[in-house]
Amino acid sequence: MSANTPPAAEPTPFQRLGGEPGVRTLVDRFYYLMDLEPGYAVLRALHPADLSGSRDKLFWFLCGWLGGPAHYESRFGHPRLRARHLPYSIGIQERDQWMQCMLQAMAELAVPEVLAQRLADALYGTADWMRNRGG
Ligand code: HEM
Repeated sequence: MSANTPPAAEPTPFQRLGGEPGVRTLVDRFYYLMDLEPGYAVLRALHPADLSGSRDKLFWFLCGWLGGPAHYESRFGHPRLRARHLPYSIGIQERDQWMQCMLQAMAELAVPEVLAQRLADALYGTADWMRNRGG
């Protein structure tokens, strides 16, 4: 490397997950598990019978949230995530099922532990902020 070469930029979480195909795989596993596992039944029941719309929206959102292309914003504008979740009753149990489902998806796809932990911490903040009922 010559003295004039700028240091390589740190890869974004989006890049570290494998870009769009990696984020899609994570979102697909998340909804697959939500559908499959009895432990996520309360979370599943809040969602429509056909999960394909939910799947696309979470994929578009996470691409931008992870430092990749802003697909969600370009389609729907500002995410206003908390407002968009107000129609659903979200308490501690719903938050914890969402988090557990995402943690299981990341573990099953062998997302590197340090990255998975970093994402889990950030996602927890977002999931907790979505609560709109006590308990
Ligand atoms: C805390 C527990 C959560 C519950 C119970 C929950 C539940 C839901 C439900 C039922 C929908 C509607 C699905 C549909 O219209 O097909 C939804 C939409 C969505 N959720 Fe969540 N969610 C939670 C947390 C999160 C988190 C942490 C994120 C982001 C990291 C997220 C991102 C989204 C997005 C982007 C949408 C689509 C919004 C729209 O454009 O209408 N959710 N969620």
